[in-house]
Amino acid sequence: MQLLRDLIIEEINKKGKIPFAGFMQMALYHPKYGYYNSDKERVGRFGDFYTSPAVHTIFGELIAKQLEEMWRIMGKVSFTVVEMGAGRGWLCCDIVQCVMQEYPEFYDHFHYIIVEANPYAKEKQRALLMSVGIPDDKVSWHTYTSGGFSFGNIQGCFLSNEFVDALPVHRLKVKKGILKEVYVSYNGDDFYEIEDEVSSELLKRYHENCQIYLKEGQEYEVNLDVAEWLRHVSGKLQKGFLITIDYGDTVNGIHRSADGDGTLRCFYKHTVNKDYYKRLGEQDITADVEFTHLMTMGTLAGLEVTGFAKQSHFLIALGVLDKLNNMNNDVETILKVKNLFHPEGMGDIFKVLIQHKNVGNPSLTGLRPLSSITI
Ligand SMILES: C[S@@+](CC[C@H](N)C(=O)[O-])C[C@H]1O[C@@H](n2cnc3c(N)ncnc32)[C@H](O)[C@@H]1O
Repeated sequence: MQLLRDLIIEEINKKGKIPFAGFMQMALYHPKYGYYNSDKERVGRFGDFYTSPAVHTIFGELIAKQLEEMWRIMGKVSFTVVEMGAGRGWLCCDIVQCVMQEYPEFYDHFHYIIVEANPYAKEKQRALLMSVGIPDDKVSWHTYTSGGFSFGNIQGCFLSNEFVDALPVHRLKVKKGILKEVYVSYNGDDFYEIEDEVSSELLKRYHENCQIYLKEGQEYEVNLDVAEWLRHVSGKLQKGFLITIDYGDTVNGIHRSADGDGTLRCFYKHTVNKDYYKRLGEQDITADVEFTHLMTMGTLAGLEVTGFAKQSHFLIALGVLDKLNNMNNDVETILKVKNLFHPEGMGDIFKVLIQHKNVGNPSLTGLRPLSSITI
C-alpha cells in the first residue's frame, strides 16, 4: 500500500533509521493503513491464515470447560473473561454460548470483555454475537493502549489466542561477539537493513533475564511489548488466571534455522514469505512466541506459572477425544477437529501457557498428565 509505505519512509527520513519493531508497529497497527486496522478479512478461507477458533466451536467449548473449573477453584466469585484481540469474535461466541447452555450457574456469575482496537472487527463481533442471541449485557468492549486497559480491576481470566505473536518484535544478533539490533532504512528506492547498537537498555538486559546464550550470527526476535502487557494484566487481575495460546515454544524449544535466520515471517493468502518490506499493510508479519520470556516477565509482574503444555495436550486433557467419539462418524468435522490437536496440524506448534495470581496452587484439568486419561 503506497500511502503506508510513504508514511514509513517519512518516519525513516526523520530519524535516519528505525528499529525493525517500529517498522512492524506501523505495518501492522498504523491507525488508518495498518494490517490489523483494516476492514479486510484476515482469518479464515478468504483471509491470510487460519486460527483455532476458526476451525471448530469445540476449541471454544473446551476453553469454556477450563474457565468453569477456574471459577469453581476461585470459590464461585463474579468472573470476568478478558479476551485480547478477538478477530471475528468466534472464540467469544463459542465460549459464551457453551457457558450459557452447559454451565447455567457459572453463566449467572460470568461477564466477557473483548479488548479490541479495530473498529471494523468490533462491528463484526457485535453482529455475530447478536445473530446467535447472546444478550447485550453479557459482553462489553474495551481497549488496551500504552496507558493500559480501559476497565477497572477484575477477578477471572485473561485469555488470548494468537495475540502475542502479532505484537512487534525487535531483532537482535551477535556480530563478532557484540550485541547488535536490526534497523530499517531507505535508500530512495528500497528499504534496507542496518545492524547497529541496540536501541534500549531493556533489550540489552533481555538475554540476561531470560538466561539465554546468543549464538554468533543467529537472529533472535525480542517482544518487549509483551512484558509491558503482562504488567498491565497483573495490575488489573486481583485474583485469577491468564491463558495465552500461541505458536512458539520455550527458549530452547524454538526451532531456529542453521543459516541464522530467526522465526520472523509473513503470511499472505495462506502462503508464507520473508519479504517483510513488500505488500505493506496487506500481509501479516509475525514471529514465534518465546514462552520462557512470558514466564519470566510474568513472574516479575506477580503472575505465577500454573503450567505449560502443547495445544494437543491441553485439548486432549479437556476431553476433545470424547467429543469426537460423540460425533457419529461425521468425517468432515472429525478431520477438522483433528487438525486442532494433530502434531502435524496445530497440535504441537501451538502451546498453552497458564499463569495465575492469588489462587494458591491450582491444579487444572487442561494441564493434567495425559496418563490420567481413560477413553
Ligand atoms: C492474529 S489476530 C488473532 C485473532 C483472534 N484472536 C483469532 O484467534 O482468530 C491478532 C489480533 O490481536 C489484535 N491486537 C493487537 N494489539 C492489540 C491491542 N492493543 N488491543 C486489542 N487487540 C490487539 C489484532 O488487532 C488482531 O485482531
